[in-house]
Amino acid sequence: MNLNFSQIIPSIPFILQGVGVTLKIVVFAALLGFVFGVILALCKIGRIKVLTWLADAYTSVFRGTPLVLQLMIIYFGLPQLIGFEIEAFPAAVIAFGLNSAAYISEIIRAGILAVDKGQREAAMALGVPYKRMMRDIILPQALKNILPALMNEFITLTKESAVVTVIGAMDIMRRAYIVGGQKYAYFEPLLIAGLIYYILVIILTLLGKAVEGRMRKSD
Ligand code: ARG
Repeated sequence: MNLNFSQIIPSIPFILQGVGVTLKIVVFAALLGFVFGVILALCKIGRIKVLTWLADAYTSVFRGTPLVLQLMIIYFGLPQLIGFEIEAFPAAVIAFGLNSAAYISEIIRAGILAVDKGQREAAMALGVPYKRMMRDIILPQALKNILPALMNEFITLTKESAVVTVIGAMDIMRRAYIVGGQKYAYFEPLLIAGLIYYILVIILTLLGKAVEGRMRKSD
């Protein structure tokens, strides 16, 4: 056994600085994923066949290929097409956002379909236009049902964000890896990174439970 946590202590603030980087990527990717996910879900349940097909194809591709590959295509591959480099942060947000949208669209689609048919029929009978019916009647009810699944997706996103280390973003993971290289000891910094991720996930879980509890009360 050759563990020495005391030599890592001075590096803990350096690793902790990655929390901001990780959270920034996760928050922006979640926002992008949610907005695009809603659009995809509406395409899937709508009557326009081409849009349904496109949204299904999108989901199939983004769920059917590794996230780390999508990230590397955007960061390393895309500059060849567009003629300029993309920085690690926007590349990560785009890759995680696009990937998450595929998963979120399925969550939202299921949530919309689970809202009682009577709601839709009543709205239509009252002559509420489609857009208003979706925005004011169906989506708010769907969101309440899918909150646990959505929270689950954000937790996944937080953990999966660790793969940005492959494009050099200075997140928690990358920093722990760097400290490991400096001290010729990887176990301790990686363990600390694990602890930080775990605490983040616990906080997200508690947050999700709190929001869920409030929503249930409002019923
Ligand atoms: N490791 C999986 C992949 O590479 C995770 C995909 C991300 N999952 C998610 N719910 N956003 O494909």
